[in-house]
Amino acid sequence: MSTIQTVMIVDDEQQLCRIISHKLKKEGFRTIQVHNGLDALQIVERETIDVMLIDYMLPDMTGIELLCKLKGQKTNMVTIMLTAYGNVENAVQAMKMGATDYLCKPVELKTLVDTIHQACRSSRANAPAPSTLADIVVASDKMKEVIDVLQQVMETDASILLLGESGVGKTALAKWIHQQSNRSGKPFVSINCAAIPETLMESELFGYRKGAFTGASETRAGKFEMADKGSIFLDEIGEIPPAVQAKLLHVIEEKRFMKLGSTTYQTADVRILAATNKDIRQLVRDKAFREDLYYRLNVVELVIPSLRERTADIPLLVEHYLRKLNEKYQKDITISAEACEALTAYPWPGNIRELVNVLERLHILKRSGAIERADLGQHLHTDQGSRLKEPSEQHLLTIIPDRNEGLQDALEKVEGTLIQQALAQTGGNQTKAAERLGISRHTLIYKLKKQKESYKGESV
Ligand SMILES: Nc1ncnc2c1ncn2[C@@H]1O[C@H](COP(=O)(O)OP(=O)(O)O)[C@@H](O)[C@H]1O
Ligand SMILES: [Mg+2]
Repeated sequence: MSTIQTVMIVDDEQQLCRIISHKLKKEGFRTIQVHNGLDALQIVERETIDVMLIDYMLPDMTGIELLCKLKGQKTNMVTIMLTAYGNVENAVQAMKMGATDYLCKPVELKTLVDTIHQACRSSRANAPAPSTLADIVVASDKMKEVIDVLQQVMETDASILLLGESGVGKTALAKWIHQQSNRSGKPFVSINCAAIPETLMESELFGYRKGAFTGASETRAGKFEMADKGSIFLDEIGEIPPAVQAKLLHVIEEKRFMKLGSTTYQTADVRILAATNKDIRQLVRDKAFREDLYYRLNVVELVIPSLRERTADIPLLVEHYLRKLNEKYQKDITISAEACEALTAYPWPGNIRELVNVLERLHILKRSGAIERADLGQHLHTDQGSRLKEPSEQHLLTIIPDRNEGLQDALEKVEGTLIQQALAQTGGNQTKAAERLGISRHTLIYKLKKQKESYKGESV
């Protein structure tokens, strides 16, 4: 790149801004120093900024909020978040909000400059857009069976009911079925029955005419009309109220429906796909779900197995998602065989959704090289139920610094508590405790020694 690049430094520590600015100027950048979020937003409106260096803690907003406000405005800008040392949560959040990279304070100037150069080179603006097609990984026999059945009914208009725990891929499969079917060029309309209040469900599904009720200022199409010639996906169907169940049954049987406030029927050429994580047979037995509707929906009924019942899929899923993440973030992260084995052995209560989430976090936190066994510790809830909680979940609220206590001391307390907790959970085994905490045994011993010394200091 031959043009001079402009870096905006957004940090309320003025002295730090000056030092960074001085260094960057020597490196050939133009710099602008800003000390709060609103000023940053105003300048972005009128100047071309190539890189924005954002401190997480700004006087008027957090760095994440600033990122949010920038979203959609300047898509080509490289953004780098400066977070407090060890604050993994903020780093992860920043990357998810679209930051190009993050750095932990205190940061060495050389690292800062290198990161800016690197981020400019691999700016996501130049990277290919990540694929948004619902790509489905299938390796285990159990999933192959599921796909076999689906392939047999793909081309028909049979309604399909997908059952299974949350996160096993019901939504992803519904999209895939539609894409593979002969309705693929037509709309795929999805509705989450759990997210819509009962009073709005009917108008959402069937639409309404102008004047049908107070506030209906214009005629609106419902999901069935929008899905015409395509597929409708009724997600969380177990949550649908009885009154709407009757109407739904009617549309399926008659292939026609009536808008609210209308007196004429409209035809509905729609293929029905539905899903639930509830035990729908039990709901039928309890009379919470109409039996006749159930039989209409489950012309084909498939249980999507949980991830722990099809562990053969895990290594392929890991590989698939690492490849996608590497593409998205322009990195080249791999995983060690040991780490992959540990992921395969883990029971995944949140199924693929949890796996994807964990991989995203590991990928964001790893700068280069391979994800190792030791990196996994804090991301997996080992020993069912006794998950090592994140500090944000458990301790930050209870360890509020004493009036005269600095932040550093408070953080050390949090660290100390987590270490003691890990030791308690592993029966005092330092190697295992360190593994859980995602630190080396050496670091753990060092920290324990430091803790002991500080206790001694206190008691004097
Ligand atoms: N077979 C699969 N291959 C790759 N990714 C999958 C697969 N099944 C699900 N996923 C991904 O896992 C996550 C959760 O899947 P989703 O379909 O939302 O689960 P559910 O609807 O059962 O709660 C999504 O990000 C989805 O893309
Ligand atoms: Mg779903």
